[in-house]
Amino acid sequence: MDGYVSRPQEEPFTGDAGPVKPGRFGPPSDAWYPVARERAVRRRLRVPLLGQELTLVRNPAGGVAVEQTDWRVETRLGLVWVRRAAARPEAVPTLIGDNAGTARFPMIACSEIEVETDYDQAVLGLVDPAHVPMVHTAWWWRSSDKRRVKTKHYAPSPFGFTATAADQFASAPAYELVGSDRKITIEFRLPSTRIERVEGGRFRLLNVTTVTPTTPGRVVLRNVIYSSVRPLRWLHPALSALGRAFLEQDARILRRLDADASTRQPQLFVGAPDQPSAWYFQCKLALARATGAGFVNPVRPSVLRWRT
Ligand SMILES: [Fe+2]
Repeated sequence: MDGYVSRPQEEPFTGDAGPVKPGRFGPPSDAWYPVARERAVRRRLRVPLLGQELTLVRNPAGGVAVEQTDWRVETRLGLVWVRRAAARPEAVPTLIGDNAGTARFPMIACSEIEVETDYDQAVLGLVDPAHVPMVHTAWWWRSSDKRRVKTKHYAPSPFGFTATAADQFASAPAYELVGSDRKITIEFRLPSTRIERVEGGRFRLLNVTTVTPTTPGRVVLRNVIYSSVRPLRWLHPALSALGRAFLEQDARILRRLDADASTRQPQLFVGAPDQPSAWYFQCKLALARATGAGFVNPVRPSVLRWRT
């Protein structure tokens, strides 16, 4: 990979994840990453990915293609996703489908922000529940400063894991609009996709957040939201601004972190809130080691509890 090199390892202790091996740090090179919103590709659009500049074009049939022949392109959820053509199929995390009927639902928000940071630190922001009360402090997200105990069930899912809330009351105030019978699941899938699904009665919402490695030391955080409530699409500009504010809260912290520290210092995972972060790195190792038999998911069904 241009500009992406294996960094020296210092034999840190990493708990039950075992000693650090190559493949643990940095973006997996053989994976799908979103690079642009589909409608942003009018005729030609240049996009950076993994240190390379790619050119997206509209083909005569109206679809999106990539000019560089050693890359593959797919459109899903209104986004253009790209991966290397030479990737071993068994080691490529499956791309999120247009599932949950979302193809029928309008996109109600879309936002993106570029950040100078370490790739893994940015992805940890998708899985780490402990940062939420410290970083995401908007009134519509947290109604009070009071900490509460949160319990979540975790289970392995394709190329990652899925959390289901066991205590609905702990949800953000914004979810009160959905009703008390709501079901919320949050899936994490390698390389860097967080998929939140909210269902309540006939209400459906899909909230997808991704991290795309553009050039060494830079990523794009991207968020798209779909909903079954069609009138919400008229709020697209306002909801996109809220999504961007949410991403900006993460970005502000990422800019203040030492970008290389996560690879130079020993990793330390403490207690239940850090378990998803440990799983993230274990999943990356499992992906790097995937053979013809495919990805062996290291995640075991678990109940995690923490104060948030
Ligand atoms: Fe966050």
